[in-house]
Amino acid sequence: MFSGASPRSYGLAGSIDLEGRVVNEQDVARVLASCDMPDYGDGREVLHAQPVNFALDHRTGLSDPRGQMGQELATDMHMLTVDAIAIQNLAHCVKRCDLELAGIASSSYVSALSALVEDEQELGAACVDLGGGTTGVSIFMKKHMIYADAVRMGGDHVTSDISMGLQVPTAMAERIKTFYGGVYATGMDDREMIELESDTGDWEHDRRRVSRAELIGIMRPRVEEVLEEVRSLLDAAGFEYLPSQKIVLTGGGSQIPGLDGLASKILGQQVRLGRPLRVHGLPQAATGPGFASAVGMCLLPPAHRMNGGTLTFRLNAILCAASNAPCAGSRRTGDAKRAKFRRCGVSISA
Ligand SMILES: Nc1ncnc2c1ncn2[C@@H]1O[C@H](COP(=O)(O)OP(=O)(O)OP(=O)(O)O)[C@@H](O)[C@H]1O
Ligand SMILES: [Mg+2]
Repeated sequence: MFSGASPRSYGLAGSIDLEGRVVNEQDVARVLASCDMPDYGDGREVLHAQPVNFALDHRTGLSDPRGQMGQELATDMHMLTVDAIAIQNLAHCVKRCDLELAGIASSSYVSALSALVEDEQELGAACVDLGGGTTGVSIFMKKHMIYADAVRMGGDHVTSDISMGLQVPTAMAERIKTFYGGVYATGMDDREMIELESDTGDWEHDRRRVSRAELIGIMRPRVEEVLEEVRSLLDAAGFEYLPSQKIVLTGGGSQIPGLDGLASKILGQQVRLGRPLRVHGLPQAATGPGFASAVGMCLLPPAHRMNGGTLTFRLNAILCAASNAPCAGSRRTGDAKRAKFRRCGVSISA
């Protein structure tokens, strides 16, 4: 899966004349192909393109129009593009590891697939995936992703602030962050001291101690900055107009103690910490929020499937063939992953 690379969301619309016939699979393919493609620019690739709604005459909100009659079939699609160079680099790395790339998906999308409960996906929710270099945001409504974007900051920026603030190497900053990190300081944190050991030979520098409150003082502004950027991104997407505005935090960075409290202050009341759902029998180590995207990747094909056909998959294939991009939602990815999981004794419920 894939995060960052300046994602951009587009809403596409298309319609075809049915002349009163029953909608069949070809009609669905035709209406999807009838969507007018925006000019998404050179150096960009389509990562996802999914129908989010079908309408037959004046009946809208259909998830699968096949088998129904009408005069005009219309559809709304959500398309996500990213920087092509980022995809090419990733594909190159995978190839150099002698692995075969079966598909690419946006990590904020797959995190939401695994971490949002049905109601949240249906009524409106955002998944905020706090990764290392980026913080991905995806918005779901009526079981579909309708918007995705990313903030170009994540947990690694918090680590580098600690590294600079305390004058310690990155590896130690990372360790201090995961062991003692937080965003709310209490009186007790003034007295809890963290040993900073190093071996520069300078005794004064090598035997230093900082209070946990001081560490929190370094971490909090950056976390606030990330969350405020997420807020403005959600505002720009019109998140407040959804019937429900749940926010689910995933990704390794969401494990900072107290983050949910700070997030609800900045993003609104309905914030919860997410973790991967829907896959049973995961090893303990893979049940945390940092694994939401990895688990979501395994869920990708079933979640795309529409009663016996994979409309999204085929559409993606059409669009990707046009743009030479590897396709998301490839059936092979899913089947291979599912088979692998089955071998490990893990079952996936669609
Ligand atoms: N217990 C923890 N407390 C705080 N932060 C943590 C903890 N565990 C991991 N992190 C942070 O989570 C970040 C990595 O998260 P994740 O594994 O979701 O990123 P990624 O998916 O590899 O990166 P990206 O999404 O940017 O490509 C790192 O910045 C790491 O420091
Ligand atoms: Mg990630």
